Amino acid sequence: MTKRALITGVVGQDGSYLAELLLSKGYVVRGITRRASYPHTQRIDHLFKQYDDRDAEARFRVTYADLTDSSSLQNVLHEFQPTEVYNLAAQSHVGISFETGESTLDINAIGPFRLLDAIRSSGAKDVRFYQASSSEMFGASPPPQNELTPFLPQSPYGVSKVAAFYLTRLHRIAYGMFASNGILFNHESPRRGLNFVTRKITYSIAQIIAGELDRIELGNLDAKRDWGFSGDYVEGIWRILQHTEPDDFVLATGEMYTVRDFLGQTFGLLGLDWEDFVTITDRYRRPAEVPALLGDASKARRVLGWEPKVHFGGLCEMMLAGDLAARGFTLEQARTKAATLTPKRGGA
Ligand SMILES: NC(=O)c1ccc[n+]([C@@H]2O[C@H](COP(=O)([O-])OP(=O)(O)OC[C@H]3O[C@@H](n4cnc5c(N)ncnc54)[C@H](OP(=O)(O)O)[C@@H]3O)[C@@H](O)[C@H]2O)c1
Repeated sequence: MTKRALITGVVGQDGSYLAELLLSKGYVVRGITRRASYPHTQRIDHLFKQYDDRDAEARFRVTYADLTDSSSLQNVLHEFQPTEVYNLAAQSHVGISFETGESTLDINAIGPFRLLDAIRSSGAKDVRFYQASSSEMFGASPPPQNELTPFLPQSPYGVSKVAAFYLTRLHRIAYGMFASNGILFNHESPRRGLNFVTRKITYSIAQIIAGELDRIELGNLDAKRDWGFSGDYVEGIWRILQHTEPDDFVLATGEMYTVRDFLGQTFGLLGLDWEDFVTITDRYRRPAEVPALLGDASKARRVLGWEPKVHFGGLCEMMLAGDLAARGFTLEQARTKAATLTPKRGGA
């Protein structure tokens, strides 16, 4: 039987990589997106071209629906009849969740409940459900963190993800649903949103090389994170739903670096000293910080056979090369250009 996957958040970073992976495996894929005032399907436009979405048999289509709108979720479930549901949609920015706490909780915590409840009420017994849980749930719990580490969230985002984690487990325990959590540590890519620190850095370096920017403003450089590649993590997400039974898994690289390390690595690729280009500002400080996240993914390795392939150095290079290419530079050309730059000192 052909597998049918519904992906919420398909226009996001992970949604786009997951759609590619599932289509390559022969799935029929339906994504959902919200209406936006300006088109924002750049990450999946190539899939529309590849899998013509005007054809009734098209393997890839996108429908308007919203995690805050139960009827839209019920409609897409009824019409599409998925065999697997990947709930990746979220207000996914930790810092912004301090400013939009109520809607973050509505989308990230009540949203998964609406979706789980709609699947349960539909009577479809064999649907497999994946919830995009997050290492931010561990918050202030000291590293390394694994499936047994207590949650101590430090943001409305973290709290919302803890609620969704337990709601997912509850549907597994109370109703026997195949409902699993992937507790994913930070994962990035050239498709990462521009206001996440890693992408902000590589995008800004490309702007500096192109002569469009002098300095980057950043907040806490001491935050320690376990950064992997989104393309590797969607493979793990898929494996979580193919497992014989529903369960919860940490996905992480098991390596930890600071934002300062990320700066050193990316600027270093062009022979530049990051301190010449970075201004520290309190504007990006958060009311509560998560000091250190370091994942122990030994359960996923043992049970699912999942291993990340891309590590810190490769990830930095991939992201920087992507942003430079968008401005017409190879790494080599950017190095040559970097050697001619005169940094405007001060402000750091
Ligand atoms: N990337 C990471 O490091 C990381 C780590 C752990 C967990 N996670 C979680 O993994 C998931 C995917 O992450 P990502 O990095 O791909 O995030 P992302 O790029 O921000 O994508 C999230 C998507 O969610 C959609 N969305 C937001 N509100 C919605 C709503 N009310 N209804 C329907 N869709 C909505 C957005 O699409 P529209 O613009 O169409 O609304 C957006 O494209 C998220 O749940 C995130 O919290 C991410």
